[in-house]
Amino acid sequence: METKIAAITADSLSRAARIIRDGGAVAFPTETVYGLGADARNTEAVENIFAIKGRPNDNPLIVHVHTDYDISSLAEGVPAYAVKLSEKFLPGPLTMVYKSKGSVSPAVSCGLGTVAVRIPSHDGAQKFLKYLGIPIAAPSANVSKHVSPTSAEHVFFDLNGKIPLILDGGACSGGIESTVLDCTGEIPVILRSGLITREMVEETVGTCGEYVLKEGERARSPGMKYKHYSPSCETALFAADELASAVGLYDEKEKSGICCAILCESAVAKKLGGRRCLVLGSDPAEMAANLYLRLREAEKICRLLIAVAPAERGGVMAGVMNRLTKACRN
Ligand code: TXA
Ligand code: MG
Repeated sequence: METKIAAITADSLSRAARIIRDGGAVAFPTETVYGLGADARNTEAVENIFAIKGRPNDNPLIVHVHTDYDISSLAEGVPAYAVKLSEKFLPGPLTMVYKSKGSVSPAVSCGLGTVAVRIPSHDGAQKFLKYLGIPIAAPSANVSKHVSPTSAEHVFFDLNGKIPLILDGGACSGGIESTVLDCTGEIPVILRSGLITREMVEETVGTCGEYVLKEGERARSPGMKYKHYSPSCETALFAADELASAVGLYDEKEKSGICCAILCESAVAKKLGGRRCLVLGSDPAEMAANLYLRLREAEKICRLLIAVAPAERGGVMAGVMNRLTKACRN
């Protein structure tokens, strides 16, 4: 199959709609990462997405809709705090999990009985979702476990020959996936951290829990348990105060002929002398936007990526560290 990359125009949207209506999949941009979309009501189309990505069949998909879509046709029992959060943060990088009304294929949520709903703010995503007018199930448009794609070229690298069309909306500004928030209980609970931070949720509705997967427990958000976001090179992760050890490893490996690169924030990069480095940036938003781009660069330029965790914690850095830790898990 030939994979075309096309700017978002009346022509490419009409082609995308034809593909989706025929049960196929199309990649499209969002403000976080690129998604691989298919008709959420069509079980075969949804199963096709799992097959294209090589995704484990117990990891549910997010349903994407446009800003005027009636959420009550997908979800029931929407609590008052969720209405407040929607008003404040949507459209935007916040995915909300509700009890499902059963109007999308059960394959979307892998039989969980809940549905994750997302209204992206990206103009291209909105155009695509409005043109179709149907709920679109979409995981990130990468091969399962690989680094998520933040440009049309990243999608092409992973899925060339496997999908017919990539709608190109340029580089994603957010850079890490949406925050996934469980809205089925008394209080909202973060299942996956992201650009809408725990602090932002707390400020809006007073309280917010955070789900931590315990050893041996069945995951509430099954995506959490998998190795993820990983570049194809080897990786090693050091804490912010372990720079000397990171540099020591770099020098030792380079001496034995193994090409290395150090991934770190701007302030640390300045201390590395002539060593090869991949700079994340200096503030949290910039580091989130650059993370996946740098991980994809790493696999092109080195055999061992040595990551040094940024010093700042909290806010968006919780999401960045969550991804970086999983990317470097061996
Ligand atoms: O920013 C994003 O969310 C991107 C763009 C394309 O919208 N999408 C994305 O999808 O990251 P994916 O499939 O890579 O990650 C979906 C996450 C997984 O961790 C999955 O376990 C969780 O959402 N999830 C989906 N449905 C769920 C549900 N019903 N209950 C709990 N977790 C759910
Ligand atoms: Mg993903």
